[in-house]
Amino acid sequence: MSMEFRVEAVSLSRVAAKAAILFVPKGADPAALVKDAGLGFVGAARTIAARATFTGAAGQVVTLHEKPGSRIETLVLAGTGDKGDPDVLRTAAGEAIRAARDAGATTVAVVLPETRSAAATAETVVEGVRLGLYVFETYKAEKAKRAVTAVTLLAPRAKLAAARAGAAEGEILADSVLLVRDLGNEPGNVCTPTFLAERALAIGKAYGLDVRVLERADMAALGMGSLLGVARGSAQPPKLIVMTWEPKGLKGRVETVAVVGKGLTFDSGGISLKPGEKMEDMKFDMCGGAATIGVLQAVARLRLPIRVVGLVPASENLPDADAFKPGDILTASNGTTIEIVNTDAEGRLILADALAYATSHLKPKPAAIIDMATLTGACVVALGSACAGLVSNDDRLAAKLSAAGDASGDPVWRLPLKERYREQIKSTYADIRNSAGREAGALTAAAFLERFVAGTPWAHLDIAGTAWTDTNKGTLSRGATGFGVRVVTRCLQAWSKK
Ligand code: BES
Ligand code: MN
Ligand code: ZN
Repeated sequence: MSMEFRVEAVSLSRVAAKAAILFVPKGADPAALVKDAGLGFVGAARTIAARATFTGAAGQVVTLHEKPGSRIETLVLAGTGDKGDPDVLRTAAGEAIRAARDAGATTVAVVLPETRSAAATAETVVEGVRLGLYVFETYKAEKAKRAVTAVTLLAPRAKLAAARAGAAEGEILADSVLLVRDLGNEPGNVCTPTFLAERALAIGKAYGLDVRVLERADMAALGMGSLLGVARGSAQPPKLIVMTWEPKGLKGRVETVAVVGKGLTFDSGGISLKPGEKMEDMKFDMCGGAATIGVLQAVARLRLPIRVVGLVPASENLPDADAFKPGDILTASNGTTIEIVNTDAEGRLILADALAYATSHLKPKPAAIIDMATLTGACVVALGSACAGLVSNDDRLAAKLSAAGDASGDPVWRLPLKERYREQIKSTYADIRNSAGREAGALTAAAFLERFVAGTPWAHLDIAGTAWTDTNKGTLSRGATGFGVRVVTRCLQAWSKK
């Protein structure tokens, strides 16, 4: 379903739309706001004001109706609280546009609030609207009947250009998030490593990225025994996708940041087989890889003045006669030997060779590496779905990501990387082992990854708790969330401006 966005300097009393959305800060008088908008709905607004049921608190949404045939039939009031929090506005926009859609509106006018800059507000609202309306129905015979086809954002004339620029940026971010949702929601029998590679190639062609795909033979030549070890149990050939954004026409030194994402297209656990319950969710185990593809798409469309290389190691993890086994020792491309104690700790194994590739094969060497991975159940236990885990060997990089997190809608929370965790992954038979049991599982996994970054400033985002959701609310819709695209893109954007 395609939807058209426009930003216009018209008033609510003239705009052609069947529904309107008004954002109401906490403490404002909804009845007065509605009256000033000159749309009708005054009686209903007075009633809710009198009952004080709608106060403009964050998360509140009410839908008011005028008689059918009125110019604007549906008015949605959405509370934005009193903190001017962009994520509250984004969520309110998502929730309000769903309410308008569910009321049957196909065309919706949205009054941009004037809390922050017009560009920032337009961008946030566009994101909220696009994400809020997302549905994945590729495999359904019966498609949703109600859909919004056109949204008009209303901005003051003096701020029209800024609002339009912000809206365009919001569309770029939202498109990438939705790309990741689409890739994540695809079933594992469709979204294979080959499928991910084909999508990356198509995106590269569309947006001017250089995309190369390393095949099994290339990986063998590079000594990627860790990634190849995981892939041995699968009939699907593994891929290592390399996407490069090279900004054109810049003078002087341009830094490179590598973004690496776990592209495990289905994780059964392998010989250390997972329990059956919810195993179907393990089709989402490629969401870090998809988010990497989404970041590269966004970076190219935003034409960021920084070189970004996206690396996606992609494989399945299945049990098979030829599968790797507990007790096996794999040798990664940087020479590190790894004792396998649990084949279900496979994400770190495929990331190991991709991280080593980033440090030893990219020219010039990356100034920083950021990885995203649905890496550990332990991170889900620690942080739930409220934020992703952030582990880093570099305080400046960690601070950049933390700052980019909250406002972007992808919050992260830093966890420590203590010497003790490095000790826990020591092995009797090899340099390291791929699991150290349950204790501090998210951190021993990070300590494992650290072995492959060769001292490069590096940050790891464990998105196991945030990559997919059961919620249908605000900007979220059941299935893949697209988490990671926004925090990393915003971080790279801030970086490129320094
Ligand atoms: N893909 C999983 C992590 C995961 C689990 C993500 C649940 C989201 C929800 C990963 O490959 C895995 O299986 N990790 C193991 C590691 C353990 C064997 C050391 C885990 O977390 O249990
Ligand atoms: Mn696993
Ligand atoms: Zn996994």
